[in-house]
Amino acid sequence: MFSKQIPPLNSFFLLLLALWASAFFSGCTPQEASFRPNELHVASLSQDSTDQQVSELAKTASNHVEELFGTPDSPKWPSEIADIVDMVKVKRSAGPVGRDKSKVEYGLFRKHCVQCHGTTGDGQGPAAALLAPYPRDFRRGSFKFKSTPIGKKPTHSDLVRTLEKGLPGTGMPAFGTLNHSVEFAEDIDALAHYVRYLSVRGEVERRVISAIVNQENAAEQAKIIASKVAESWAMADSFSVKPPRLITTWVPEDQTAAIERGKAIFLSELTACSKCHGKLGDGNGTSQDYDEWTKDWTIRAGIDPNKKAEWKPMKRFGALKPVLDSARNLTLGAFRGGETREDVYLRIVLGIEGSPMPAIARKENDNPGITEEGIRDLVEYVYSLSNPVTSGAAPSNEKGAEHEQSN
Ligand code: HEC
Ligand code: HEC
Repeated sequence: MFSKQIPPLNSFFLLLLALWASAFFSGCTPQEASFRPNELHVASLSQDSTDQQVSELAKTASNHVEELFGTPDSPKWPSEIADIVDMVKVKRSAGPVGRDKSKVEYGLFRKHCVQCHGTTGDGQGPAAALLAPYPRDFRRGSFKFKSTPIGKKPTHSDLVRTLEKGLPGTGMPAFGTLNHSVEFAEDIDALAHYVRYLSVRGEVERRVISAIVNQENAAEQAKIIASKVAESWAMADSFSVKPPRLITTWVPEDQTAAIERGKAIFLSELTACSKCHGKLGDGNGTSQDYDEWTKDWTIRAGIDPNKKAEWKPMKRFGALKPVLDSARNLTLGAFRGGETREDVYLRIVLGIEGSPMPAIARKENDNPGITEEGIRDLVEYVYSLSNPVTSGAAPSNEKGAEHEQSN
């Protein structure tokens, strides 16, 4: 927007911009007038539009959303929709970093999260492009590591868990290890409310953009959309899955046999685990794919993410270089969704939303699929890949030998 019309004084202007930017990231934050409009989503839905049309449509949508949800410094919540966030906590997390008279800290999101997730929660903070995987864009309303099935929102405790424990093997830090004070536990709780707020705001914005592209009445639609999105969050707890006693209290009488049975399930056609994770679980499978955040503006918009000439023009709307969401090397044991058998069970049973990893086919009535006992054995096998059993058939040696062959 600026670049086309900067007069000769532009070096002074750039200096001001640099000063503003450094103040911004050192915590003494200036006012954040608005959330950044979602131009990438507009551009992927309306490919023939000029840059100016994209920018105007994105701004229009953003204005409708701002009426309902306010700005980064003054968030609000529409009274007509389900009351799924605590606005006192949202306000503590929002705005510039600082303390009030009683020393309570404010601006938690800008202090702890913004460098990666961006003020808008679009996953486009200044550090984002350097990270693999990229930080989550909350605006899609999808989360990967949760206790609810694909298509359902995470529960509050799912988000709290992610914030406390982080996502091992990614840039997402564990905030629970920083400080165990009562205040910090409260901060995490407040931040989880703010993630919800940003996610609802961003998903409503995406859907308002679709409404405008489809020439519906955006102002009227915005409220209807907002209440639908809020309702989907309100329902999350009712979909939360608890691992069965078979998993939580299981003490195998013969662990090696359970691992062998699990391995056969892992290699089977029915689960296809090894197609993606490789026969040895080391991530060397044949199937390679992108996540939904990338497909959203590439494949769904008719752009081939493997062809630079096709995706590169989308960078001007904020797209980051497409990176494959590869199946994990399970021998490394950095389970992002948690390292207990219960956590691994949930990942296998529920899949990982937004990633290529599907939920397992479970045996129900006459449907072909894996029984609960089979899933338990599979969990044991997956677990053994990074925690080799020392007695018995020494799976770690066998693994090493096969691995050399396959290379
Ligand atoms: C150093 C960068 C970094 C910082 C700081 C950071 N995150 Fe993240 N965050 C990430 C990355 C990277 C991912 C994506 C990991 C993945 O896809 O496996 C992520 C993912 C998430 C997710 C998605 C979890 C899911 O189930 O999909 C949430 C929620 C989240 N972060 C919240 C926060 C909050 C709140 C803060 C501040 C308290 C924060 N993050 C700070 C990098 C960061
Ligand atoms: C279509 C490909 C595909 C299939 C089939 C598949 N996975 Fe995955 N799996 C993935 C991808 C991709 C990831 C990484 C997802 C991410 O974090 O974005 C993953 C991640 C995982 C994780 C890591 C979870 C964590 O907390 O970090 C486990 C465990 C796992 N898969 C086990 C399995 C098992 C067991 C099966 C068979 C029942 C299976 N997968 C089938 C693609 C697949």
